[in-house]
Amino acid sequence: MTRSIRPLVAGNWKMNGLKADLAIAAEVAKGYDAALKRGVDIAICPPATLLFTTSATLIGTRIATGGQDCSTQGSGAFTGELSAAMLADAGASFCIVGHSERRTLHGESNATVKAKAEAAQKALLVPIVCVGETKGEREAGKALAIVEEQLRGSIPEGSTAGTLVVAYEPVWAIGTGLTPTAADVAEMHAAIRTELGLLIGKAAAAGVRLLYGGSVKPSNAAELMNVAHVDGALVGGASLKAEEFLAIARACNG
Ligand code: PGA
Repeated sequence: MTRSIRPLVAGNWKMNGLKADLAIAAEVAKGYDAALKRGVDIAICPPATLLFTTSATLIGTRIATGGQDCSTQGSGAFTGELSAAMLADAGASFCIVGHSERRTLHGESNATVKAKAEAAQKALLVPIVCVGETKGEREAGKALAIVEEQLRGSIPEGSTAGTLVVAYEPVWAIGTGLTPTAADVAEMHAAIRTELGLLIGKAAAAGVRLLYGGSVKPSNAAELMNVAHVDGALVGGASLKAEEFLAIARACNG
């Protein structure tokens, strides 16, 4: 953790969740007690169909919501796309961009991810920009170089601590139950902070929340959150179980 940074635990529901699953959000809200509220921010990123109702369910709870992706465009003839302004209108404060599933399955380049992050910022959403290497890249000793290149290509100029979150998610750790060692996470997060300093200035970079994501569970959260420059978590599978998600939030609360 970084002492001066308030941690964020964000849940990425991916393509999971029907109306009945609003109960998960309600249960998370119930467990977000005074002690947790003092120390950690929580956000839930449901599928877009549930964004408005989730946001409505969470009014008054201080739990934020976010989209999982947004268009690079503001409006117009883009069938099936959702603009950042639409997500904001549905109650979102955050938007995940550049998740590896988007980069891989939809061929999103760094330039596309950057345009999405800019579109999010324009709509006053805070983009959660995801970066991370594949297993092959790590084994080839290229993890740091790949992530630095992703940052150089994906981070909007002029981003500040209040308008940007970065999530380091090694592709091989997502949904696999595998996690990097604490030493590898420490090395990567320190490198991300340094690279951000070159891109947006040291002062701004010092306050940007750097989340770790990839198989975060109640059983490993405390160890991961103890690593320097890890300022919270981006949680997939475990965010669909309120008790597990809350346990991870408690681990972030020191
Ligand atoms: P996971 O997913 O926690 O299920 O590994 C993380 C993510 O993809 O954001």
